[in-house]
Amino acid sequence: MALIQFTNVSFSYLRNVPVLHHISFSIEKTERVMLVGTIGAGKSTMLKLAVGLLSPDNGTVIVDGINPSRNPLHEIARRIGVALQNPSDQIFSITVREEIIYGLHNLGVQETSHTLHRIADLFHLTDVLDKHPYDLHPAQRRLLALASTIAMNTPFCIFDEPTSGVSKPERKLISAALDQQTTAGKGYLLITHDLAFGMEQCDRILVLNKGIIAVDEAVPDFLRRPDAQGILKANGMQMPIVPRMSATLAQENIAVLLPDFLSQLPGKHNENTL
Ligand SMILES: Nc1ncnc2c1ncn2[C@@H]1O[C@H](COP(=O)(O)OP(=O)(O)OP(=O)(O)O)[C@@H](O)[C@H]1O
Ligand SMILES: [Mg+2]
Repeated sequence: MALIQFTNVSFSYLRNVPVLHHISFSIEKTERVMLVGTIGAGKSTMLKLAVGLLSPDNGTVIVDGINPSRNPLHEIARRIGVALQNPSDQIFSITVREEIIYGLHNLGVQETSHTLHRIADLFHLTDVLDKHPYDLHPAQRRLLALASTIAMNTPFCIFDEPTSGVSKPERKLISAALDQQTTAGKGYLLITHDLAFGMEQCDRILVLNKGIIAVDEAVPDFLRRPDAQGILKANGMQMPIVPRMSATLAQENIAVLLPDFLSQLPGKHNENTL
């Protein structure tokens, strides 16, 4: 059974201004899926429908067999962790320490010390545990929001723009955290404008365009499409540099990671020889 099932879902905030039209797709518990689309395409709206923060005008959303609109939010919260696009929308505690375990406490978990230290270590937040979240710099606040989401230990997570506003070191931490999720058998939906990051971390791509799912494909299959760059361009995005270069080599498999691209070149190359 799929974890998230959208069937014929339509939604609008304002009368006569539809955002999503008859959308159908499903996501399994262990899948790693990226969702992309232009600014305002409706990606965050899909997130809110998936976790019951909004209800569809038509069609049905089912999560792990239950309807989010007809169940208390905590029933979905124990199935899907959510990191919102704006970290300030989900940070309420007065210390980083309390914020990381806030969701766990809400789920009724008493013993949180081990999780707290593991997650703080993962996101390099150990030295700031007693700080007020608003005394962190914005990239650390992003990490804190992701940390408190992952701390809930849900089988699946949705991350809305997890790399927005962060630089390379934080990006690496986020990547390592997602890899740990995968190792633990957990899936995720990554909503992102950061295509390079999404393609590195996900196996499947959904492109939302004018309220419909225009692409739903395995990432390697999408990259092999002759019109892949055109589709991204039409949605305000550009193919990341590594797959763009790799595509010019006309390989069967288009590389997403730099070491994979270098191994496709004739002769021996590594990142230092560039
Ligand atoms: N509360 C709201 N009331 C009215 N319109 C809204 C509301 N929230 C979002 N919208 C509109 O709905 C559309 C979809 O918004 P949404 O935030 O889902 O897009 P998005 O794909 O997440 O965009 P972004 O890439 O900027 O994060 C946009 O046109 C947006 O302006
Ligand atoms: Mg959004």
